[in-house]
Amino acid sequence: MTDKQQQAISALSWEERSFPPSPEFVAQANTGPSIYEEAEADWKGFWMKQALERVSWFKKPTQILDESNPPFFKWFADGELNISYNCLDRHLETGGDKVAFYWEGEPVGDERVITFRQLHEEVSRFANALLGLGVEKGDRVAIYLGMVPELPVAMLACARIGAIHSVVFGGFSADALAQRIQDQEAKVLITGDGAYRRGTVFPLKTNSDTALEACPSIENVVVVKRCNNEIAWTEGRDHWYHDLIAAASSENEPVAMNAEDMLYILYTSGTTARPKGVVHTTGGYLAGAVATHDLVFDIKPDDVYWCAADIGWVTGHTYIVYGPLANHTTGVMYEGTPDFPDKDRFWQIIEKYKVTKFYTAPTAIRSFMKWGDHYPKGRDLSSLKLLGSVGEPINPEAWMWYHAVIGNERCPIVDTWWQTETGCILITPLPGAVATKPGSATRPFPGVGADVVDDQGQPVPLGGGGYLVLTRPWPAMLRTLYKDPERFVSAYWSQVPGQYFVGDGCKRDTDGYYWLLGRVDDVMNVAGHRISTTEVESALVAHPKVAEAAVVGRTDEMTGQAIAAFVTLRAGVVGDEALIKELRGWVGEKISPIARPKSIVFTDDLPKTRSGKIMRRLLRDISEQRHLGDVTTLANADVVREITSLAQTSTKED
Ligand code: PRX
Repeated sequence: MTDKQQQAISALSWEERSFPPSPEFVAQANTGPSIYEEAEADWKGFWMKQALERVSWFKKPTQILDESNPPFFKWFADGELNISYNCLDRHLETGGDKVAFYWEGEPVGDERVITFRQLHEEVSRFANALLGLGVEKGDRVAIYLGMVPELPVAMLACARIGAIHSVVFGGFSADALAQRIQDQEAKVLITGDGAYRRGTVFPLKTNSDTALEACPSIENVVVVKRCNNEIAWTEGRDHWYHDLIAAASSENEPVAMNAEDMLYILYTSGTTARPKGVVHTTGGYLAGAVATHDLVFDIKPDDVYWCAADIGWVTGHTYIVYGPLANHTTGVMYEGTPDFPDKDRFWQIIEKYKVTKFYTAPTAIRSFMKWGDHYPKGRDLSSLKLLGSVGEPINPEAWMWYHAVIGNERCPIVDTWWQTETGCILITPLPGAVATKPGSATRPFPGVGADVVDDQGQPVPLGGGGYLVLTRPWPAMLRTLYKDPERFVSAYWSQVPGQYFVGDGCKRDTDGYYWLLGRVDDVMNVAGHRISTTEVESALVAHPKVAEAAVVGRTDEMTGQAIAAFVTLRAGVVGDEALIKELRGWVGEKISPIARPKSIVFTDDLPKTRSGKIMRRLLRDISEQRHLGDVTTLANADVVREITSLAQTSTKED
């Protein structure tokens, strides 16, 4: 494609660096390049093979994919299984004493080591306790906890008895919790007295009590004691978790679930205020989780694997709980923030547990860059063998920093693209089979069908940019939105006939590599060029003085939209007029003069969602001096005030 204007989104810059897997890594890898051909020859058969070989079924499925009522697809629909059985019981005979979780509390010195056998016993007891509270198959159970071992226990106990769990991130407000409980009409809430976060106690129980004033469906509340903070108590409704566990039997038979029975609902924010209740079912989800976890992270029996996400997000569901436990993998689970008590906590944890596989988000990586290399360099990270990234496009320079400073140029990096809706990783390198390029999620996982299309839904040739779509169903896909099938169809299946519309911009290079360009809603239109935020931000982050950047399009009389940039500098760098000029010139040279930011504001931090994504919508409102509305869903609401005043005083333009 030569005429950039024909592209739905302009592809402005190309990354030439490439990192093939080392011969040593290839020699020991779980899979090689031939897996792609194998899967392409028969993609449905490929998924069936994963399901039969990696999942233990009470009744093996004979059907693969039911396509009779698209987009309401079914996978392995005549199979029966239990996920908790797959995560726990099946490992007991051969490896019950293997560590399931090294749990590290936020207060230094707080730690627990939990074997598969111990986890099995606790889950069985809690399953019986839930049955005792009248929870039945199909009932919804809301879980609102910090990162404590009782969180995976509660999820697995629900799965064991066929209850549907819905984890609400333990940093959300009472309102957010109430809204989610009301939508699913949950019968039980599992919460805690409090949760540790950056040295303070977050009041889970107080928030729960407030939320429950508006949630008549809740009959019982189970409370995990963690922080010993003072809480109110409603006799008859509230029960201590430890009392229930002590009184419950440790014998519990997991129930047989149909492959298409609901496993969980997880709420994700949509463009409107009402969050979407993403529904995942049992058999296909597990097949997707175990296959991707094993192949993407190249899992070995002696791995110490650490996914540093929160279980309140889908990453924690699939890659802290279900995938790793079903694969009999030892995991690290950390309760707190990366900067408590100091900014080297993550590196201290890697050193302490000799972590081999580490999976985190670009937002964290950019914070580490900003804080400075001396934190990781002061710790022994030589146990690491592979690094992962998820949640946002990773800027090439952040990738290079991760590669050099954390991976010591030895560890393959898997940049894994997926969504709450997809259930498991869909675009990613397989570390022993694919050469990586900094900033690219490389290619679809075997068996996955993807494409990049233009405004008319037509494929964009290699070398161009447009919208990412998924062209085939996959086993871990969402089945619907809870109680809202119309919204399921309109949000994902109405833009391009027969294809799943992801909502992300994407370009492909001439090797067919995928480069994610951020959310379609964030694309800027400058003088008729549709420019992705990701490319301009990555150009800024490539400057040695910059740690993080966010750009947005704001209304401009001349060009329709003009690019406004918000930039966080690396530790010790001072932002001044000269640097603004330098950065504008830099972006012009790196990608194109049309992508030069018209204004640049330096700020210590950027507004982020609680899962770490930059909130560009807010920055647009700030740039256009609009009323900001509710900012309580932000992880760092303070920064908005600071940026607003900076943006008003700084009108540095051409
Ligand atoms: O925009 C993409 C971005 O995160 C979105 C999904 O967010 P969520 O449902 O919260 O799930 C996050 C964890 C799976 C996607 O639509 N995203 C996620 N991973 C990547 C990414 N963008 C670029 N590269 C990635 N690796």
